[in-house]
Amino acid sequence: MAAKGTHVTTLNRGFALTWLGHGTFRLVTRGAKTVLLDPWVEGNPACPKDQKTFDKIDVMTITHGHGDHMGDAVTLAKKFKPAVISNYEIHQFLSKKGVANTMPMNKGGTVEAAGLKFTMVHALHSSGIEDGGQVVYGGEACGFVITLEDGTRIYHAGDTSAFSDMALIGELYAPDIALLPIGDLFTMSPREAAVAARMLKPKWIVPEHWGTFPALTGTPDMLREELKKQGVAAEVVALRPGETLS
Ligand code: NI
Ligand code: MN
Repeated sequence: MAAKGTHVTTLNRGFALTWLGHGTFRLVTRGAKTVLLDPWVEGNPACPKDQKTFDKIDVMTITHGHGDHMGDAVTLAKKFKPAVISNYEIHQFLSKKGVANTMPMNKGGTVEAAGLKFTMVHALHSSGIEDGGQVVYGGEACGFVITLEDGTRIYHAGDTSAFSDMALIGELYAPDIALLPIGDLFTMSPREAAVAARMLKPKWIVPEHWGTFPALTGTPDMLREELKKQGVAAEVVALRPGETLS
């Protein structure tokens, strides 16, 4: 299945990873499974209009409870009935809202869905869920390492600062591709992301959580400069919202 948008980089691994803007990605695997990472589509000002519709969603992952990461979780989960992978507290919240097929887990664990493996890893961030003017406890923020059919591993960091246990994520899961926030303010800046990349040792970095609002000031060029300064060899694949790494 071909994803829409411009194909800017080809790795020839049979999958298509489309950035929907901010922290949201659509991943279509070699086995034609569709995974939606951090469902924020409708209210996402960076998401192109023609990317807001889906043929199907097999799996949905949620890194934390903030609206800019799970604002459309309930609506899309009810419509497409994917397996929804999150921490236990977000699972409880979604279940109460009538979402079926949730798969609660916690850090260090791995679950299988649609023939893919999802490992939950640490992130340093908060995770409150806004619900009708109240903040509901959303557990701890996390990241995911997704292992594709051919063994390719994609690390979705979610919202996080850099932390030294990223070296453990690198050692344990050796991600090929790292989706790293670089916008600063709520997450890592390009400098922190370059330090993160030194620990994670991915071949490719796709910057995320930048450019959505003027307050998110980090850019892929700044990341390239920091990587060079720190002697980190990873290649930056700077997608625009709607563009696909395939
Ligand atoms: Ni957040
Ligand atoms: Mn965020």
